[in-house]
Amino acid sequence: MTVLSKALLWGLSTPLLASASAIRQQRRSVQQGWSLQSSSCPSGTDSCGGGGCCPSSLYCFAALNDEVASCCASDSVCVGAIEGSVNCADSSWSLWKGFQGNGFCCEVGLVGVYDSSGSVAGTCVASESVGSSTTAVLMTTGTGSAVTSTATTTTSTTKPTTTTTTTGPTTTTTSTTTAPTTSTTTTTSSTTTSTSTASASTRGVFAHYMVGSMTAAEAVTDVNDAIAAGFDGFALNTHTISSSDTWNTNALDYLFEAAAGTDFKLFISFDMSWGLDVSSLAGFLATYVAKEAYYFVDGKAFISTYTGGTISNSEWDNDFIIPLQETYDITPYFVPNFGDYSGYPTGVFDAFPILSGVFTWESAWPYSGNTPENVSDTVDAEALAEAHAAGAVYMMPLSSFQFKYLGSGQDWYRIGEDNLPQRMGQILNLQPDFVEVLTWNDAGESHYVGDFWAEQIAGTDEGAYADGFDHKGWLQIITPFIDAYKSGATELSQITPPDSTPVGTLWYRTLLTTASCSSSISNYESALDAVNFAVILPSDGYTINVYSNSELIGSYAGVTGLNYNSVPGLQVGSGQYIQVLDSASNVVASATGTKDVAAESTSSVCNWNYEVVGLSS
Ligand SMILES: *[C@@H]1O[C@H](CO)[C@@H](O)[C@H](O)[C@H]1NC(C)=O
Repeated sequence: MTVLSKALLWGLSTPLLASASAIRQQRRSVQQGWSLQSSSCPSGTDSCGGGGCCPSSLYCFAALNDEVASCCASDSVCVGAIEGSVNCADSSWSLWKGFQGNGFCCEVGLVGVYDSSGSVAGTCVASESVGSSTTAVLMTTGTGSAVTSTATTTTSTTKPTTTTTTTGPTTTTTSTTTAPTTSTTTTTSSTTTSTSTASASTRGVFAHYMVGSMTAAEAVTDVNDAIAAGFDGFALNTHTISSSDTWNTNALDYLFEAAAGTDFKLFISFDMSWGLDVSSLAGFLATYVAKEAYYFVDGKAFISTYTGGTISNSEWDNDFIIPLQETYDITPYFVPNFGDYSGYPTGVFDAFPILSGVFTWESAWPYSGNTPENVSDTVDAEALAEAHAAGAVYMMPLSSFQFKYLGSGQDWYRIGEDNLPQRMGQILNLQPDFVEVLTWNDAGESHYVGDFWAEQIAGTDEGAYADGFDHKGWLQIITPFIDAYKSGATELSQITPPDSTPVGTLWYRTLLTTASCSSSISNYESALDAVNFAVILPSDGYTINVYSNSELIGSYAGVTGLNYNSVPGLQVGSGQYIQVLDSASNVVASATGTKDVAAESTSSVCNWNYEVVGLSS
């Protein structure tokens, strides 16, 4: 999920589309993107602090851990969009790929370098000054003229000498804009290496649910399907708190009614990327906390967000937490996604004493741009450690991939292939307190695992790539994963199939990466032409055979638990399937794709959505 993506979601009328396109109006190829790394910001740019410079027409947002500051088109966080569609904020700069594969920008003529003990994607030096630093990978050479030296080699946060008054990008005018980027929270504070887990009754598994127009009957279907899949509840992504958005309040009412009388619980996840007014959240929330199906931990109302980490602790506290307690008598259990807090997760609990825990959104997928890459759990491990050291909890994200195809710079892919089972292994290994699956129904980013409803995507182009691509086959591996996680399993080998017979899922794209339209998709280079599978076996002794165009492209000796692979060799044609054979070579289960693979798209959509099919016996 990204800021711009939200502009297109869920039963909205058109003004947001209009504002999204207004944002795209560009001056001299300035666009949302990574900042320039320079200790002295060139004219036409403003310092974001920390050595980053953004074009003066854009808004600075502080760097996340191992990244650089992002330059956003509006005063809403956009780092997710930049990670999904990597470029420099000014096309005159060169794009480099540095520490952790993250992008950053240098003036032409300088060399991008990084230091793997640091916490920044990279910096820019004159070629004679590379020294012992690691040279980053040049991705794109900018159109600007070459410079040969940096103004100074130190990374001070001096303001640019060009004085561009208060309209510069770092000024904040609403509650959702960035906090000053200069606060250097060096977290040497705690010497305790506490491994204590939170006291709360935890191990809840939730699915992120995009609240949109729907019927009461559809709400019942969603709740029942999620209960059947083993979820504890939905995190209800709510991007409006206006009572006049009755599509929103109706949908919330339907969902709370559908869950009433069950063990399935709901909590609100405020989508702060929409600029929600912090001081109005408590009053809105109180209505839903009062409902029977609201989720409580130790008597406290569980509340989450998508972003909001650039809003200060005192604003959250004074305008939200204290009113909740004093006006509405609600004790909050606040577990937001503050991935947009500068340096996240380092120091996030020092900066926000109000937190009961944190959730991370972006770590669900690799940030990679131009190469296939495995997902990392570094951010999760650190967030978990910080949380537990603070006596708080960590909610870890699990997702399949991202594919979005909405034009206007919103065409992107994020791996993908075997990301979903890889993350399952990381979760079992790290043992977070909660898990949130991204998502139940986000057709726009294609990572849904349940139904999405026609009214929810009405007025968008999402149906063009999501309709007819059912993803419920993934639930066949998610359900046993949830069971294993709840029972304390720490390894994939401890995930067991429900009825002692193999279960699993097959997924592949129906278009080869060599299709001529592919280059329209950001990060297309990171994709593989592969048939992906995850199969959960009750014992050793099985064989998993993988076919494309009816040719055997892989054969694997299965072991007890969850087996997965991304098998290269996806071919044009039909006959995309997997078979599970027992030790006597009998086929005991198979999954066969319902869609052929093509070399070229025959429509205007370059559809990289996955065909997803569960095993049947
Ligand atoms: C991802 O991890 C698998 C092993 O789990 C390895 O075989 C593969 O090469 C890795 N891919 C990349 C791009 O590093």
